[in-house]
Amino acid sequence: MRDSSAEPAIETIFSAEDIHARLQVLAAAIAAKTPQNLLVVPILKGSFVFAADLIRALHAAGLAPEVDFLTLSSYRKSRVSSGQVSILRDLDLDVRDRHVILIDDVLDSGRTLAFAKDLISARGAETIETCVLLDKQAPRAVSIEPDYCAFECPDVFVVGYGMDVAHRYRELPFVGRIVD
Ligand code: IMP
Ligand code: MG
Repeated sequence: MRDSSAEPAIETIFSAEDIHARLQVLAAAIAAKTPQNLLVVPILKGSFVFAADLIRALHAAGLAPEVDFLTLSSYRKSRVSSGQVSILRDLDLDVRDRHVILIDDVLDSGRTLAFAKDLISARGAETIETCVLLDKQAPRAVSIEPDYCAFECPDVFVVGYGMDVAHRYRELPFVGRIVD
């Protein structure tokens, strides 16, 4: 057992209610623009909770997307990006002639999403859009802006709602920052 008195405090930045409300708006916007032949690609691991809630919001908005997963790595154990993106697990599906929406938790330096976009583009997708939970207000290493974004986020390291530091805090239903 961990000693809970030694746990750092987590300060809420976006509550579960804030996130739920934004997801309905994003799903409606996606449904209005891309109603057919949609392939949703969550970039794992960090986006799994966001993607799970988003695809159910898409269902409520009348869509029936296919879903396949791409596991990329750039952060490893550290809070600082390594600068190198690699494929840890590839898609099963062919993206040729599909309308693909890439889902990610945080757009930070831009390297992860730019890498995924280039990869899907090279494989012949008809359209590629990006949907992120958080657009960090930080300098980008690569020029890329999300097509759909739930929240702009201050340039602090965040956890919860699928996001981790060293594999912890993914279970939190809100997005927060660790108060050191
Ligand atoms: P980028 O390649 O620098 O844009 O980083 C994007 C990836 O880094 C995201 O997919 C996240 O998994 C991870 N990341 C960036 N910032 C944070 C953070 O504050 N908390 C947890 N993960 C983060
Ligand atoms: Mg990630």
